[in-house]
Amino acid sequence: MDKGKVVYITGGSKGIGKGIAQYLLQKGYRVAIGARQLNSAKQAAKDMQGDQSQILPLQSDVRNPENEKEAVAGIMDKWGRLDVLIANAGIGIFAPIEELTYDQWNQTIDTNLTGVFNSVKACVEEIKKTKGYIITIGSLAGINFSPKSTAYNASKFAIVGFSQALMLDLRQQDVKVSTIMPGSVTSHFNNHEPSAEDGWKIQPEDMGEIVYDLLMMNPRTLPSKIEVRPTKPPVKK
Ligand SMILES: NC(=O)c1ccc[n+]([C@@H]2O[C@H](COP(=O)([O-])OP(=O)(O)OC[C@H]3O[C@@H](n4cnc5c(N)ncnc54)[C@H](OP(=O)(O)O)[C@@H]3O)[C@@H](O)[C@H]2O)c1
Repeated sequence: MDKGKVVYITGGSKGIGKGIAQYLLQKGYRVAIGARQLNSAKQAAKDMQGDQSQILPLQSDVRNPENEKEAVAGIMDKWGRLDVLIANAGIGIFAPIEELTYDQWNQTIDTNLTGVFNSVKACVEEIKKTKGYIITIGSLAGINFSPKSTAYNASKFAIVGFSQALMLDLRQQDVKVSTIMPGSVTSHFNNHEPSAEDGWKIQPEDMGEIVYDLLMMNPRTLPSKIEVRPTKPPVKK
């Protein structure tokens, strides 16, 4: 993919989404970043190094299909094209089944699964026009089970299936689809506050580099499912 192309990153205000946005901005892409509150997206844009005119902060709660349609309309108004969707917005709520509430279950599925569907539905016709790329951010929790993770595991296992089926729907129309499934990444996930102790984890800019490598890959080749893990996690004693 060439410079100047337009990328929409959901959940671009923090963590992985912000790291991908910063990396692609420095590689010459135009980046639209979504967040539930416009101020969070604007603040993230201000924090970024690079040409501010190449960043479009947007309010969009991915749980709301109309928000996502409006976000894409905003991108089309500003730049007139859309090449890449990074469906990244997600939350993690961890509790044993007896304690997990109906509301927590619904929040997780509505954000991590239906939210990705809403983003894809809003973007797909524009991305077909540019023969672009859809990347979903799954998780190693899409292949590995953990205790206290019924909602999160369910949402991330589902994202693997959703993304691979989406890939089959779109590949003959020259739209690539990949899901990236990271292990531990330094971010604000699950109310985490990043610190020096996170040095062993994958960093948000590393996620940006992976996305960039996918975008640069020869059109004939498609890594459709990418597992990524920290090289050397601390050994549990
Ligand atoms: N960190 C990890 O170790 C890890 C590992 C594997 C997979 N992941 C996945 O990576 C993705 C990003 O998580 P992260 O680690 O970067 O967490 P994070 O630092 O908490 O960032 C989450 C982002 O998602 C946004 N968001 C949350 N709910 C949203 C909604 N309903 N609509 C729009 N945006 C929403 C947040 O924006 P606002 O709060 O400003 O709205 C924020 O920008 C998630 O899908 C997560 O499951 C993370």
